[in-house]
Amino acid sequence: MSKDVVLIVDDEEGIRGTLSGIFADEGFEPFTVASGEDAIRVVREASPDIVLLDVWLSGMDGIQTMEELREIDRELPIIMISGHANVELAVKATKIGAYDFLEKPLSMEKVLLTVNRALEKRNLEIENKALRQNLIKQWKLVGDSPKIWQLKKEIDMAAASNGRVLILGESGSGKELVGHLLHEGSSRADKSFIEVNCAAIPQELIESELFGHEKGSFTGAFEKKKGKFELADGGTLFLDEIGDMSLQTQSKVLRVIETQEFQRVGGSKNIKVDVRIISATNKDLKEEVSKGQFREDLFFRLNVIPIKIPALRERTEDIPSLVKHFLDMFAVEYKQQSKEVSSETMNALMSHSWPGNIRELKNVLERLVIMTPSKTITHGDFFAFDSSGADYFSCSKLKEAREAFEKDFIIAKLKENAWNISKTAELLDMERSNLHRKIKVYNIKIP
Ligand SMILES: Nc1ncnc2c1ncn2[C@@H]1O[C@H](COP(=O)(O)OP(=O)(O)OP(=O)(O)O)[C@@H](O)[C@H]1O
Ligand SMILES: [Mg+2]
Repeated sequence: MSKDVVLIVDDEEGIRGTLSGIFADEGFEPFTVASGEDAIRVVREASPDIVLLDVWLSGMDGIQTMEELREIDRELPIIMISGHANVELAVKATKIGAYDFLEKPLSMEKVLLTVNRALEKRNLEIENKALRQNLIKQWKLVGDSPKIWQLKKEIDMAAASNGRVLILGESGSGKELVGHLLHEGSSRADKSFIEVNCAAIPQELIESELFGHEKGSFTGAFEKKKGKFELADGGTLFLDEIGDMSLQTQSKVLRVIETQEFQRVGGSKNIKVDVRIISATNKDLKEEVSKGQFREDLFFRLNVIPIKIPALRERTEDIPSLVKHFLDMFAVEYKQQSKEVSSETMNALMSHSWPGNIRELKNVLERLVIMTPSKTITHGDFFAFDSSGADYFSCSKLKEAREAFEKDFIIAKLKENAWNISKTAELLDMERSNLHRKIKVYNIKIP
């Protein structure tokens, strides 16, 4: 169990010393700072579990600090401390979201009790939120095709083993979903599932993200920070878009896989972890290996159990159940009655090639649920939206993405205005003739 980190913000050195001593004795990890400005920096850098904040600070005062901290982290419990009993201030602090308000001289018993209660409340909130999110996200693999049955079988077998899995599949095909299912079906299910998107983290930060860093190890490392490997201890680490990891980071990851041991950036202590690695990519890693972009030895280590997710166009028979699944899901989300699609629309959905796979299908259905007022979605509704391929992020050129979006946007606005071109042009602040031209260029069908 990692220790709860308490950030103590007080400009009196004596108070900082006493509080941090007591919290350390009680099994917490205390951090102390003397100003609001420093508190903000620490919360950004080290995400403490709770903050004790003095109201009277030189520089930025406690209330201001509290407001800023709220902006950074809405859930962070903050307990205000004041030297003078001041009801007005207490009311103000609680209004802007302080968990409680304590007066100096502090009774240590009361401080500890309040901190423990606040942490309990926060843990419950985190648990509830995770439960809710799971409900919304519904890690459910919908589909009845032989290909999906095969996939389910592979997931079950791979989940039960402790082996490393490499998930392969096109963009939007369900790689992340399969990663979650593998974790949930494993003996590690009650431990953390930690995700790292190797493509989204800037190169210079990825090592600190994976392995953590010690205080002062590089500019900007104000406090020590745990990395994803440490956070995933006992559980699963999901390395998403592994094909985008630099060669330099690949060799470090390889070493950790071999030794299950690493050091934080700027640290010298060896940290041992027990982590199961699941990785995913939409790249052809073998080809990346032959091009020298991916280490062959790492590829073999990650690819103990390969799982390939079929593209949606290879299993169009799953489309009806997926459509029903998403229509029901969005009906709940948008508090509507469940919609249905006409048989003609279903045929159109089934003959589309879905380059963006399930994510694209899901996006199209979400828009249809929002934009279609009637209970049945007709071919016309779908046709109006079956425009650009919907997933702008699968476009490789900015121009393509911009045009795809422009087309969708114009269709949506036309629809909102009952296909009245003059009115839409006026609202979009463009010439009617210009809108006409766009409608022609994008081949938008006016019903
Ligand atoms: N078989 C399925 N049944 C139900 N929902 C699915 C299925 N496959 C994928 N989804 C949903 O489709 C969306 C896209 O899936 P996911 O994010 O797992 O794809 P991905 O392969 O990781 O995509 P990317 O390559 O863009 O990262 C998610 O909302 C996911 O829950
Ligand atoms: Mg993904």
